[in-house]
Amino acid sequence: MPAYTRKTIDQPVQGSSSEVYWQTAHVSRQQRAQKHQHRSCVIWFTGLSGSGKSTLAHALELRLHQMQCSTFVLDGDNVRHGLCADLAFSADERTENIRRIGEVSKLFLEAGVITLTAFISPYEEDRKAARALFDSADFIEIYCQCALEECEKRDVKGLYKKARQGLIKEFTGISAPYEVPQTPEMVCNTQTNSVESCIDQILLLLRKRGVFLDMKTL
Ligand code: ADX
Repeated sequence: MPAYTRKTIDQPVQGSSSEVYWQTAHVSRQQRAQKHQHRSCVIWFTGLSGSGKSTLAHALELRLHQMQCSTFVLDGDNVRHGLCADLAFSADERTENIRRIGEVSKLFLEAGVITLTAFISPYEEDRKAARALFDSADFIEIYCQCALEECEKRDVKGLYKKARQGLIKEFTGISAPYEVPQTPEMVCNTQTNSVESCIDQILLLLRKRGVFLDMKTL
C-alpha cells in the first residue's frame, strides 16, 4: 500500500489557517483494510447524463457487496439533494460539486470503503483535480461512453426533451460541454456492451490492481 503523504500533526494544513493542524488517526488504513479484507479505492464514473454511470455504479456495488466488500455509491442526483443542494449547473458550480465529491471520496477511502462515484463531471480540469487528491493506485476513472443521440433516445428522466425545448439551461451535451476523458483507466461502451460485461471488465481491473489481494500483501 502506498505511503501516506498527508501532513502530520507537526505541519499546518496548506491553504487553510495556520492554526489548523492535521490530526493523525490511531487506526491506520492498513488496519482498516485488514478488517474489511480488501483495499479501498475510488472508482470514478464519468459520462453524459443517461450514459449509464449510475446503472454501472449500483450494479457493480451489488456485485462487490455480494463478495463481502464494504462499498458506497456517491450518486450525482442524490448528493445534489443534500451536500450539494446549494449548487446548480454553471461551470463554477459543477467545479465546486466535483471538488466536494473528491474530498468526500477521500474520506470514504480513508474509512476503507470501495467508493463508487457517478457524476457527469464534464470538465477534464475538475476530474484532474479530483484525481490529484489520491495516490494513482487508489483512483480509477471510468468513462461511460455512449453517443449523445443514444442518451437522448433513452432520456430516462425526460430532461433531454426539456433541454431541447429550452426549459433547462446549461444542459450537458445540449447547451453545456462534456469533455471526453483523454486518459481514463477504462472506457466502458455502454451502447454496445451489457451491464454485466462492463462489470466483469471492471472487476478484472480491480483484481489486477490488487484490491482483493491476500491481506498479507497489504
Ligand atoms: S455534474 O456536471 O456537476 O457532475 P451531476 O452528476 O452532479 O452533474 O448531476 C447531473 C444530474 O443532474 C443529471 O443526471 C440530471 O439528472 C440532473 N440535471 C439537472 N439539470 C442538469 C443540467 N443542466 N445538466 C446536466 N444534468 C442536469
